[in-house]
This record gives sequence, C-alpha cells and structure tokens, in this order.
Amino acid sequence: MNRWQYFLGGVKNMKTRGTIAPTSKFTSKKMLSNIRFEDAKIIVELGAGDGSITKHILSQMREDTKLISFEIDPALSGILEENISDPRLTLINDSAEHLVQYLNKMGYTKVDYVVSGIPFVMLPEELGDRILKVSKSVLSEKGCFIQFHYSLIPKKRYKRIFNQLDIELEMRNLPPAFVYVCK
Ligand SMILES: C[S@@+](CC[C@H](N)C(=O)[O-])C[C@H]1O[C@@H](n2cnc3c(N)ncnc32)[C@H](O)[C@@H]1O
Repeated sequence: MNRWQYFLGGVKNMKTRGTIAPTSKFTSKKMLSNIRFEDAKIIVELGAGDGSITKHILSQMREDTKLISFEIDPALSGILEENISDPRLTLINDSAEHLVQYLNKMGYTKVDYVVSGIPFVMLPEELGDRILKVSKSVLSEKGCFIQFHYSLIPKKRYKRIFNQLDIELEMRNLPPAFVYVCK
C-alpha cells in the first residue's frame, strides 16, 4: 500500500484507523526499546495495520518467540498477510477485545508484551476500556503494555487502568507521537 492509498484509507476509516500515515520507524524503535527480546516468549500486537510495527517486532524477535497480531480491518489484514510471511506470526482478523478467547484457543494464558496502535481516543470509551483491561489481565508479572498516541489527553485513562505509566515523546513521526509504557 503506497502513502497515498494509506492516506485515503485513513480519511475514509478515521474512526478505526485514527491516522493518515503509518507509524514511523523511529516511533516503532522507541516503542520496541521497552521490550527485552531475549526473554520474550509471546508478544501480542493490537491494530497491526499494514504491518509497519509488525516487521520491526519480527526483525528483533528470537526464532522461538511467537507474535500474535490483531487487525480488525480485512483490507489491511489482507495486505499484511501478503507482505509478511513468517511462521512465528499468527495474524487474527478480528477485534482485539477477543484477545483472551484467542489466547485460550492457542493454549496461552499470559503474554510478555502487548504492543498497540489502536486509536483508543476514537473508539467508544467502553470498548476501549475493555480492550485495555483485557490486555492488562493477560500481561505476565514483568510484562508491559506499549501504546502510541498523538497527545497526552489519554494519560488519565492509562493511570486509572494500569499501575504504572511512563511516557516518551518521538518527534520523528507524522504527527509527533507519545509512547505510553504501562505496567
Ligand atoms: C493507527 S493504525 C496503526 C497501524 C499500524 N500499527 C501502524 O502503527 O502504522 C490503528 C489500527 O488499529 C486497527 N483497529 C482499530 N480498532 C481495532 C480493534 N478493536 N481490534 C483490532 N484492530 C483495531 C485499525 O484498523 C488500524 O489498522
């Protein structure tokens, strides 16, 4: 998908995509710097889009680590499937709110990291809270939830749901992004 197609898709589906440009490699790098890849066995990605963060996760993951990526939009999920073929990746074309059911089907109860690009500020509040709480519930003791936003407005929400929140700014993104790291 080229930048123009991504832009048009973003304008058309603003309520679920929440952006007109894929996340930059700088933001991806900043998000993923919070992952101890040498220890991670299971990583979950929410809102994978066309795979701009997915490919960076895979490039740093160990050979025996599993990545489970959710993407609700069938068009983006199809593109991701065409672009990335990796036996460590399980792509799920469904809403992240069903995370626990999918993990249970795969025989997992806990995961090491959840990396998310879901635009929670655009989703109905109740749905967003449910996805955040479900994500928190499956995190292992040392795990963390990593999210990006384009403002500090959602800060209170993360403080309410998680026990600990750290925020880093990445200017090299369109628009500049805040990386939220939650435990
Ligand atoms: C801001 S885009 C991020 C795409 C990509 N990860 C990136 O960083 O460039 C947000 C993505 O979340 C997806 N999304 C929105 N709601 C979702 C949900 N409930 N479950 C799974 N994916 C969802 C959208 O379809 C969209 O692809």
